Amino acid sequence: TAIPVLTIDGPGGAGKGTVCMRVAAAMGWHLLDSGALYRLLGLAARQHGVELTDEEALARLAAGLDVDFEVNRDATAVTTLLEGAPVDQLLRTEQTGSDASQVAAIPAVREALLERQRGFAKAPGLVADGRDMGTVVFPEADLKIFLTASAEERARRRYMQLKEQGLSANLSALQDEMEARDRRDRERSVAPLKPAEDAWEVDTTDLDIVGVVDMILERLRDVL
Ligand code: C5P
Repeated sequence: TAIPVLTIDGPGGAGKGTVCMRVAAAMGWHLLDSGALYRLLGLAARQHGVELTDEEALARLAAGLDVDFEVNRDATAVTTLLEGAPVDQLLRTEQTGSDASQVAAIPAVREALLERQRGFAKAPGLVADGRDMGTVVFPEADLKIFLTASAEERARRRYMQLKEQGLSANLSALQDEMEARDRRDRERSVAPLKPAEDAWEVDTTDLDIVGVVDMILERLRDVL
C-alpha cells in the first residue's frame, strides 16, 4: 500500500491501546481502534434490542453503524460517539468486551466492517490496533507487531485501567473473563487471534510502556 501502516495485534490487556496511541501521536499518524468497532456494535445491539446471536440483524447493524472518534487536543484521549452520544465508560467494561467478542465471531459482521476499517488508512500513515490487523485487514502492512504479556499481568493491567476510570472490578473475576474472551478470539473460525507469519512478537510482561513504544518507533523508522 502507498499509505504506511503499522499493525499491532494481540490479546486484551497486553498494552496495545496505550502503545498504539503513543506511537500514533509520535508519528503524527491516524489511529484505528478496531476493538472499539466491535464493542460499539455490541452496545448498539443492546440499545436496539438485537440479540447477540441474530447474525443477519447484527450484520445489518454493523453495515450502518453510526460511530465517530474525536481525538483530544494533545492526542492522549479519544471520545467515542455512538449515534452522536459519548459512550466511553460503557465501552470499556468487561461486559462490553465480552459482547464484542461474541459479535466479532460472526463472519458477516466482520465482512461488514472490513472496508470501513481499511478506510482509516490515510496519509501520512496509520497505526491499527486489534486482533486481525496484520492477518486480514492490512496484510500488506509495513510493520506488524504481536503484543503479548502473561495472563496475570494482562488482568492486572486491565484492572488498573478500570480503576483509573472509576469503574469497579474484581481481579480474579476479570482474569477469568479475559481468559474466556481470549479463548473465544483464538478459537473462532474467522480471523482468529494469532500472529501474522511476518509479525514481530513482543512479550511486554516485564517491560514498561515507554520501553515498548521506543522499541517500536525505532523498528518502524528502520522499515520506512
Ligand atoms: O481490543 P478490544 O478488547 O477492545 O476488543 C474487544 C473484542 O473485539 C475482542 O475480544 C475481539 O473479540 C474483538 N476484536 C476482533 N478483531 C479486532 C479487534 C477486536 O475480533 N480487530
